[in-house]
Amino acid sequence: MPELSAFKIIAIDGGAATGKSSTSRGLSEKLNLMHVDTGAHYRSLTYALIQAGASADNNSNILKYLEALSLSTQIDGRSARLGINSVVPADAELRSPKVNAHVSKFAAIETVRHKLFDYQRSLAELARKQNFSGLIMEGRDIGSVIFPDADHRFFLHADETTRAARRASEGQTDSILKRDQMDTTRKTAPLVCPEGATQIDTAPLTLEEVINKIADIISS
Ligand code: C5P
Repeated sequence: MPELSAFKIIAIDGGAATGKSSTSRGLSEKLNLMHVDTGAHYRSLTYALIQAGASADNNSNILKYLEALSLSTQIDGRSARLGINSVVPADAELRSPKVNAHVSKFAAIETVRHKLFDYQRSLAELARKQNFSGLIMEGRDIGSVIFPDADHRFFLHADETTRAARRASEGQTDSILKRDQMDTTRKTAPLVCPEGATQIDTAPLTLEEVINKIADIISS
Protein backbone atom coordinates (compact mmCIF):
# COMPACT_ATOMS: atom_id res chain seq x y z
CA MET A 1 0.00 0.00 0.00
CA PRO A 2 1.48 3.45 -0.93
CA GLU A 3 2.32 5.50 2.19
CA LEU A 4 1.26 9.13 2.62
CA SER A 5 3.95 11.37 4.08
CA ALA A 6 1.52 12.90 6.61
CA PHE A 7 -2.14 12.73 7.65
CA LYS A 8 -4.25 14.23 4.86
CA ILE A 9 -7.82 15.42 4.44
CA ILE A 10 -9.28 14.82 0.99
CA ALA A 11 -12.58 16.37 -0.12
CA ILE A 12 -14.53 14.84 -3.00
CA ASP A 13 -17.58 16.74 -4.26
CA GLY A 14 -19.89 16.33 -7.24
CA GLY A 15 -23.47 15.74 -8.36
CA ALA A 16 -25.44 12.51 -8.04
CA ALA A 17 -23.97 9.43 -9.77
CA THR A 18 -20.72 11.13 -10.78
CA GLY A 19 -18.72 8.30 -9.17
CA LYS A 20 -17.93 9.89 -5.79
CA SER A 21 -18.72 6.88 -3.61
CA SER A 22 -16.96 4.17 -5.67
CA THR A 23 -13.95 6.43 -6.12
CA SER A 24 -13.77 7.39 -2.43
CA ARG A 25 -14.14 3.78 -1.30
CA GLY A 26 -11.41 2.67 -3.73
CA LEU A 27 -9.06 5.42 -2.52
CA SER A 28 -9.75 4.60 1.12
CA GLU A 29 -8.60 1.01 0.48
CA LYS A 30 -5.59 2.02 -1.59
CA LEU A 31 -4.29 4.70 0.79
CA ASN A 32 -5.69 3.57 4.17
CA LEU A 33 -8.03 6.55 4.52
CA MET A 34 -11.14 6.70 6.69
CA HIS A 35 -14.08 7.06 4.30
CA VAL A 36 -17.09 9.23 5.09
CA ASP A 37 -20.11 9.42 2.77
CA THR A 38 -21.95 12.58 3.82
CA GLY A 39 -24.77 11.83 1.37
CA ALA A 40 -25.54 8.94 3.74
CA HIS A 41 -25.64 11.47 6.62
CA TYR A 42 -28.38 13.46 4.90
CA ARG A 43 -30.14 10.25 3.90
CA SER A 44 -30.04 8.98 7.52
CA LEU A 45 -31.44 12.22 8.90
CA THR A 46 -34.12 12.23 6.20
CA TYR A 47 -35.08 8.66 7.03
CA ALA A 48 -35.23 9.38 10.78
CA LEU A 49 -37.15 12.64 10.31
CA ILE A 50 -39.75 10.99 8.06
CA GLN A 51 -40.10 8.15 10.59
CA ALA A 52 -40.68 10.71 13.35
CA GLY A 53 -43.40 12.42 11.29
CA ALA A 54 -41.47 15.58 10.25
CA SER A 55 -42.19 17.27 6.93
CA ALA A 56 -39.69 19.18 4.78
CA ASP A 57 -42.47 21.34 3.34
CA ASN A 58 -43.70 22.55 6.72
CA ASN A 59 -40.44 22.85 8.66
CA SER A 60 -41.17 25.49 11.30
CA ASN A 61 -40.87 22.84 14.06
CA ILE A 62 -37.99 20.86 12.52
CA LEU A 63 -35.65 21.79 15.41
CA LYS A 64 -37.89 19.91 17.83
CA TYR A 65 -37.52 16.77 15.70
CA LEU A 66 -33.75 17.26 15.25
CA GLU A 67 -33.16 17.70 19.00
CA ALA A 68 -34.58 14.22 19.58
CA LEU A 69 -31.89 12.69 17.30
CA SER A 70 -28.43 11.96 18.73
CA LEU A 71 -25.46 11.35 16.42
CA SER A 72 -22.81 8.65 16.88
CA THR A 73 -20.27 6.85 14.69
CA GLN A 74 -19.76 3.20 13.87
CA ILE A 75 -16.54 2.22 12.15
CA ASP A 76 -17.06 -0.55 9.65
CA GLY A 77 -13.74 -1.49 8.01
CA ARG A 78 -12.48 1.82 6.56
CA SER A 79 -15.94 3.42 6.57
CA ALA A 80 -17.24 5.65 9.36
CA ARG A 81 -21.02 5.39 9.37
CA LEU A 82 -23.48 7.69 11.12
CA GLY A 83 -25.68 6.22 13.82
CA ILE A 84 -28.89 8.01 14.76
CA ASN A 85 -30.02 7.30 18.30
CA SER A 86 -27.35 4.55 18.24
CA VAL A 87 -28.73 2.82 15.12
CA VAL A 88 -27.09 2.87 11.67
CA PRO A 89 -29.97 2.65 9.17
CA ALA A 90 -29.66 -0.15 6.60
CA ASP A 91 -28.59 0.74 3.04
CA ALA A 92 -31.98 -0.40 1.71
CA GLU A 93 -33.63 2.22 3.94
CA LEU A 94 -31.19 4.97 2.99
CA ARG A 95 -31.58 4.35 -0.76
CA SER A 96 -35.34 3.80 -0.81
CA PRO A 97 -37.42 5.77 -3.38
CA LYS A 98 -38.98 7.71 -0.48
CA VAL A 99 -35.62 8.90 0.85
CA ASN A 100 -34.41 9.62 -2.73
CA ALA A 101 -37.49 11.79 -3.24
CA HIS A 102 -37.17 13.79 0.02
CA VAL A 103 -33.47 14.02 0.85
CA SER A 104 -32.69 17.19 -1.13
CA LYS A 105 -35.63 19.00 0.48
CA PHE A 106 -34.40 18.22 4.00
CA ALA A 107 -30.78 18.93 2.99
CA ALA A 108 -31.80 22.45 1.92
CA ILE A 109 -32.95 23.33 5.47
CA GLU A 110 -30.29 25.31 7.35
CA THR A 111 -30.97 23.72 10.77
CA VAL A 112 -30.58 20.25 9.26
CA ARG A 113 -27.16 21.21 7.85
CA HIS A 114 -26.13 22.82 11.16
CA LYS A 115 -26.88 19.56 12.93
CA LEU A 116 -24.11 17.91 10.87
CA PHE A 117 -21.49 20.68 10.57
CA ASP A 118 -19.48 20.11 13.79
CA TYR A 119 -20.03 16.36 13.66
CA GLN A 120 -18.56 16.10 10.13
CA ARG A 121 -15.55 18.27 11.00
CA SER A 122 -14.91 16.19 14.13
CA LEU A 123 -14.40 13.07 12.02
CA ALA A 124 -10.87 14.24 11.07
CA GLU A 125 -9.86 13.81 14.72
CA LEU A 126 -11.50 10.40 14.86
CA ALA A 127 -9.58 9.28 11.75
CA ARG A 128 -6.29 10.37 13.40
CA LYS A 129 -7.15 8.57 16.63
CA GLN A 130 -8.01 5.41 14.71
CA ASN A 131 -4.58 5.54 13.02
CA PHE A 132 -5.82 6.05 9.48
CA SER A 133 -3.40 7.79 7.08
CA GLY A 134 -6.06 10.40 6.35
CA LEU A 135 -9.72 11.17 5.88
CA ILE A 136 -11.61 11.06 2.58
CA MET A 137 -14.99 12.76 2.80
CA GLU A 138 -17.43 12.91 -0.11
CA GLY A 139 -20.49 15.08 -0.60
CA ARG A 140 -21.70 18.37 -2.06
CA ASP A 141 -20.13 21.00 0.24
CA ILE A 142 -17.01 19.32 1.60
CA GLY A 143 -14.41 21.41 -0.24
CA SER A 144 -16.51 24.57 -0.01
CA VAL A 145 -17.93 24.55 3.55
CA ILE A 146 -16.86 21.59 5.73
CA PHE A 147 -13.13 21.44 4.86
CA PRO A 148 -12.28 24.47 2.69
CA ASP A 149 -8.76 23.97 4.13
CA ALA A 150 -8.52 20.31 2.99
CA ASP A 151 -5.14 19.13 1.68
CA HIS A 152 -6.77 18.14 -1.64
CA ARG A 153 -10.15 19.03 -3.10
CA PHE A 154 -11.64 17.26 -6.12
CA PHE A 155 -14.84 17.88 -8.07
CA LEU A 156 -16.20 14.99 -10.14
CA HIS A 157 -18.63 15.38 -13.02
CA ALA A 158 -20.05 13.26 -15.84
CA ASP A 159 -22.61 13.74 -18.60
CA GLU A 160 -26.29 12.99 -18.02
CA THR A 161 -26.45 9.77 -20.07
CA THR A 162 -23.51 8.20 -18.22
CA ARG A 163 -24.98 9.10 -14.83
CA ALA A 164 -28.45 7.74 -15.67
CA ALA A 165 -26.87 4.51 -16.95
CA ARG A 166 -24.89 4.13 -13.69
CA ARG A 167 -28.01 4.43 -11.54
CA ALA A 168 -29.97 2.08 -13.81
CA SER A 169 -27.21 -0.53 -13.55
CA GLU A 170 -27.50 -0.27 -9.75
CA GLY A 171 -31.26 -0.93 -10.11
CA GLN A 172 -32.11 2.40 -8.44
CA THR A 173 -35.08 4.68 -8.99
CA ASP A 174 -33.54 8.09 -8.54
CA SER A 175 -34.35 11.49 -10.03
CA ILE A 176 -30.72 12.55 -10.37
CA LEU A 177 -31.36 15.75 -12.32
CA LYS A 178 -34.11 16.93 -9.99
CA ARG A 179 -31.85 16.41 -6.95
CA ASP A 180 -28.95 18.17 -8.68
CA GLN A 181 -31.18 21.08 -9.58
CA MET A 182 -32.33 21.45 -5.95
CA ASP A 183 -28.79 20.97 -4.61
CA THR A 184 -27.25 23.61 -6.90
CA THR A 185 -29.94 26.24 -6.37
CA ARG A 186 -30.46 26.08 -2.58
CA LYS A 187 -29.39 29.07 -0.45
CA THR A 188 -27.31 27.19 2.14
CA ALA A 189 -24.16 25.33 1.05
CA PRO A 190 -25.21 24.77 -2.59
CA LEU A 191 -23.44 22.21 -4.75
CA VAL A 192 -20.59 24.12 -6.41
CA CYS A 193 -17.17 23.32 -7.73
CA PRO A 194 -15.01 24.96 -5.03
CA GLU A 195 -12.52 27.49 -6.38
CA GLY A 196 -9.15 25.84 -6.86
CA ALA A 197 -10.55 22.25 -6.78
CA THR A 198 -9.27 19.76 -9.36
CA GLN A 199 -12.12 18.89 -11.76
CA ILE A 200 -12.33 15.38 -13.18
CA ASP A 201 -14.73 14.21 -15.91
CA THR A 202 -15.34 10.60 -14.89
CA ALA A 203 -17.41 9.67 -18.01
CA PRO A 204 -14.52 8.68 -20.32
CA LEU A 205 -12.52 6.97 -17.53
CA THR A 206 -12.84 3.60 -15.81
CA LEU A 207 -13.22 3.58 -12.04
CA GLU A 208 -9.65 2.34 -11.71
CA GLU A 209 -8.37 5.20 -13.88
CA VAL A 210 -10.18 7.79 -11.72
CA ILE A 211 -8.81 6.21 -8.53
CA ASN A 212 -5.25 6.09 -9.90
CA LYS A 213 -5.40 9.66 -11.19
CA ILE A 214 -6.45 10.98 -7.76
CA ALA A 215 -4.05 8.66 -5.87
CA ASP A 216 -1.14 9.98 -7.99
CA ILE A 217 -2.01 13.57 -7.11
CA ILE A 218 -2.45 12.81 -3.39
CA SER A 219 0.73 10.77 -3.07
CA SER A 220 2.99 13.11 -5.08
O1 C5P B 1 -24.47 11.57 -2.26
P1 C5P B 1 -25.95 11.27 -2.29
O2 C5P B 1 -26.50 11.30 -3.67
O3 C5P B 1 -26.28 10.02 -1.55
O4 C5P B 1 -26.60 12.47 -1.47
C1 C5P B 1 -27.99 12.53 -1.22
C2 C5P B 1 -28.42 13.97 -1.06
O5 C5P B 1 -27.88 14.48 0.17
C3 C5P B 1 -27.95 14.95 -2.13
O6 C5P B 1 -28.79 14.95 -3.28
C4 C5P B 1 -28.01 16.28 -1.37
O7 C5P B 1 -29.33 16.80 -1.35
C5 C5P B 1 -27.64 15.89 0.05
N1 C5P B 1 -26.24 16.16 0.37
C6 C5P B 1 -25.91 17.45 0.72
N2 C5P B 1 -24.64 17.75 1.13
C7 C5P B 1 -23.70 16.80 1.17
C8 C5P B 1 -24.00 15.47 0.78
C9 C5P B 1 -25.29 15.19 0.35
O8 C5P B 1 -26.76 18.34 0.69
N3 C5P B 1 -22.47 17.12 1.60
